[in-house]
Amino acid sequence: MPVLTVVGAQWGDEGKGKIVDLLAEQADYVVRFQGGANAGHEVVVGGQNYVLHLVPSGILHPRTLNIVGNGVVLDPDSFLKEVGELTARGVKVKGRLFISPRAHLTLPLHKALDAAREGSKGQKTIGSTKRGISPTYMDKAGRVGLRLADVADPDYCLSQLKTSLQEKNVLFRHLYGAKTLTARTLWKEIARAAHDLLPYMADTEGMLNAAWSSGKRVLLEGAQGSLLDIDFGTYPYVTASNATAGGAATGTGLGPTRIGYVLGVCKAYATRVGEGPFPSELDPRRNQALRELGGEYGRTTGRARRCGWIDLVALRYAVQVNGLDGLAVTKLDVLDSFPEIEACVAYRVGSRTLRHFPPTTAELARAKPVTVRLKGWARATTGARTQAELPKAARDYLRFIERESGAKVALVSVGAERARTITVDPRLKGWRF
Ligand code: IMP
Repeated sequence: MPVLTVVGAQWGDEGKGKIVDLLAEQADYVVRFQGGANAGHEVVVGGQNYVLHLVPSGILHPRTLNIVGNGVVLDPDSFLKEVGELTARGVKVKGRLFISPRAHLTLPLHKALDAAREGSKGQKTIGSTKRGISPTYMDKAGRVGLRLADVADPDYCLSQLKTSLQEKNVLFRHLYGAKTLTARTLWKEIARAAHDLLPYMADTEGMLNAAWSSGKRVLLEGAQGSLLDIDFGTYPYVTASNATAGGAATGTGLGPTRIGYVLGVCKAYATRVGEGPFPSELDPRRNQALRELGGEYGRTTGRARRCGWIDLVALRYAVQVNGLDGLAVTKLDVLDSFPEIEACVAYRVGSRTLRHFPPTTAELARAKPVTVRLKGWARATTGARTQAELPKAARDYLRFIERESGAKVALVSVGAERARTITVDPRLKGWRF
């Protein structure tokens, strides 16, 4: 079953873009299955940097077809801008990029609402990217959203928009002191974008099932990370979609039985952007040092990421809730200069020691990390292309991660370029799963 799902095993920003780009070389299809323009997947090819927000990371491989699945929330302006930029840089997009008719649209009203909620006193600050993600998923669940296929029916769109605005305008006017919106103005904007957007619409669920039946290689690309998942993440400091592997089925139309392998991407350390508990976070001085070494600034918002040691309690949990078959450990080289590294293996909450990830944010916020000290390798790893070429202490670190997390290391990344990779699990080379 050559269908591979790649998910973030931490709080997002694990380096999924590079891993997906690398594996996409052999893929026939790359499919985004959740999230929206809040994602920022960075890929470095031939010294050139690409940051992809909505377009799947397979677009940089000329023979790979790319799909934006039904589970994604699509911001038409952001999508068309990204396509325009890729085209201007010589990437062929037409005929290689398709959107599900069932993908919900992120409209200006959703972005306005996201910004108003984050900025308003009395609302919990989540540190959202303000890309309208949560309001779009709220409208999807509230059954007042618009899907791509709907834009061909102006009367239906106007009636959905009117229903949605009935409530939203009360909030804009009376709660947020913001401008109200009219269905007609919104529809005009959608109609303008629809002309450029509709050529990308295709029966993606049918395409993917046909691809599966004929043995094609399909890569399902997750965005954000397991600990930002709406169900399993550090609620309420989460995103609004299922960033764990279950979302790959509901967000593409490929049933769970079709998926052959789930790869979890985790950094050799940990980062988080936005609010919310982060038990292994470092003190400000070491936080800053690791941030500079790892270039830990958000690709979508430019925000400084919070940095900490690897959290193996959280990773153990991510292994379970995703059913991970393997781990891709990224940015190992960022730790090259450390004479000693630490790893969080348990939490202390009051007088208790926890080895499992607690369900409430209150408990997690009180958790103090129990760390173990490990020998650093204090040597460059960027040249290694096999595990044997890694310093012994680096290999020991990887074995330690395996023992503590319960998943095998399948791939190791020692630099941003495609070549700076060690593929450990042979199944990933031949897509034999
Ligand atoms: P939202 O998805 O914009 O609503 O943001 C909710 C939370 O998820 C915030 O803490 C964001 O910083 C975080 N978040 C959303 N997308 C990403 C991502 O791609 N990487 C890392 N964090 C993200």
